[in-house]
Formats: sequence, C-alpha cells, structure tokens
Amino acid sequence: MTCVYLNGEFLPLAAARISPMDRGFLFGDGVYEVIPVYSRRPFRLAEHLARLQSSLAAIRLANPLTPEAWHAVIERLVAEAEWNNQSILLQVTRGPMAVRNHAFPATITPTVFCLVEPLHTPPAELREKGIAAISAADTRWLRCNIKATSLLANCLLRQMAMDAGCAETLLFRDGILSEGAASNIFVIKSGVLLAPQKNHLMLPGITYDVVLELAAQHGLPTEVRDIADAEVRAADELWMTSSTKEVLPIVELDGRKVGAGGTAGPVFKKMYGWYQDFKRTVMHGDAS
Ligand code: PDD
Repeated sequence: MTCVYLNGEFLPLAAARISPMDRGFLFGDGVYEVIPVYSRRPFRLAEHLARLQSSLAAIRLANPLTPEAWHAVIERLVAEAEWNNQSILLQVTRGPMAVRNHAFPATITPTVFCLVEPLHTPPAELREKGIAAISAADTRWLRCNIKATSLLANCLLRQMAMDAGCAETLLFRDGILSEGAASNIFVIKSGVLLAPQKNHLMLPGITYDVVLELAAQHGLPTEVRDIADAEVRAADELWMTSSTKEVLPIVELDGRKVGAGGTAGPVFKKMYGWYQDFKRTVMHGDAS
C-alpha cells in the first residue's frame, strides 16, 4: 500500500483528498520536484530542495516546510516504501481558495503533497539501442526555469513523440535548442560535450549539473552555449538526461540517424560508466 504525505499527515494514497478549489487543480498554480532514491539514499537532495526553494520564490510562495521538516518527511517515506530504488515527488501548490479568482487570496494555506513510486531506470537494452526523438517548436512560456506543475505544453509535446513512436521531443526556440519535453539535452561533436546554457528557457536540471561535473572531473572538453538546430542535426551523439532516466542516448532524430552508428556512442558509454560509479559513491554515503 503506497503511503503519501499530505498537509502534515502520512496516509494511504487511496485516502488522500484535496479540494477541487485547490489552485494547483484549477490553475496549475504550484511547483514540484522529482528526486531519485538509490538503495534508500536520496540523490542530490540538497540540490533538489534548493531548486524547489527557487521555484517557490519565483511564484511568490513561501516555503511551507523548513529544510529539516522536508528531510524528516522524505526520510520517513523512503524508509517506509517497499522498494529500495524510488522516485519521490514533492509538490507544493498555493492551496485551496474560497472563491475562484486568478489573483491570490489574501490568506491561503499551501497544499503539500509527497508521493513515492518505484524508480525504474532504463534497462541495459534501451541504453545500448538508444531512443528515437522528434523535434518541435518550443511552445512553452518564457519562465521554463521554474519547475511549475502547469505542464500542459510539456505533456502535449511529449505526446507528439509518443504518437510518432518516439520517446522524446527536442524543443527549439528561434532555431536554438532549449531542452526536451521532460529532459535536458546534450550534444557531442568531435569529442566536445555541448550543453545549452541555463537561462529562463530551460529547467536547470540536477542531472544536467551532474553530467557537467563528471565531464570536468574526467577531462571531457565542454562548451556551455547556445546550440543551433544545424549543430544538433550534425551531432556525433545526442543524449537526454533526467532524474528518472539518468543519461540516455538519442540515436534517431526526425527519422534520421544521429552520427554514424544509430546506436549508443562511445562518449555516452564513458559518461554512463562515470554516472554509475558516482551513484555507487552516493549509495555508500561518500557523496550526494
Ligand atoms: N522532469 N527539463 C524538463 C522540462 C524536465 O521536466 C526535467 C525532469 C528535466 C531534467 O531535470 P532533472 O535532471 O532535475 O530531473 C529537464 C522530471 C523528471 C519530471 O517532470 O518527472
């Protein structure tokens, strides 16, 4: 039985109730985090809580819990879940209003919801074969650095990929790569790792940071800058990253092979190895 946290209580998912007047439900007025947990150790927890804080500040919502309180909630959910590897959702909405009104009510109590699900990282076969992607114009708003629950554009863009038999949609704004519908995107060209620069057009991914840190540690040359559409199409390798997918190779874009192989590339294989080594140090408690 899945146990969730809702507004101060731990209870079975089936018993959790929120008001239909919740601004998260009516307006998508909220923010969230998804945190991977390996062997019951949350990965990069401090960074996820820091990003939650920035998202809350960006939507003018006071953090309803102290860092200690977040830790306590997460610790209990992690300990009580039946799986060793988990994916934790933290979600804060502005809360229920008495009367439907776009403007914030003078007094309102945020809704805090945390859910644990089993984490299914991509299987070996998928990592070797890679995934296919399509591209689309980035139709989202101009504050994509906020991890907002209003994800309609992301859902429509991800579904476009599904409808085309693909796994992800790469988003371009004015001919520049922003990110994926639910991932960050990296390009490998001539042995150099290219990463879009963090700005208001993409989510500052926690996995994105880990990948750049590992590249620096292992001497993989990196350029963080705008990446033009033509560079993406001429890439030797393309990767997508996210907390639940880790790092995955994209081997086909809009029906054309990426690079020479159309399978996972050599730089991906190195990065994947570094990522798994790093995870092991986290599981042993030597890093976070
Ligand atoms: N999404 N960009 C977008 C739009 C995302 O939704 C995500 C992750 C990322 C990767 O960020 P991170 O490495 O911090 O997970 C980038 C999560 C997993 C989700 O919505 O479920």
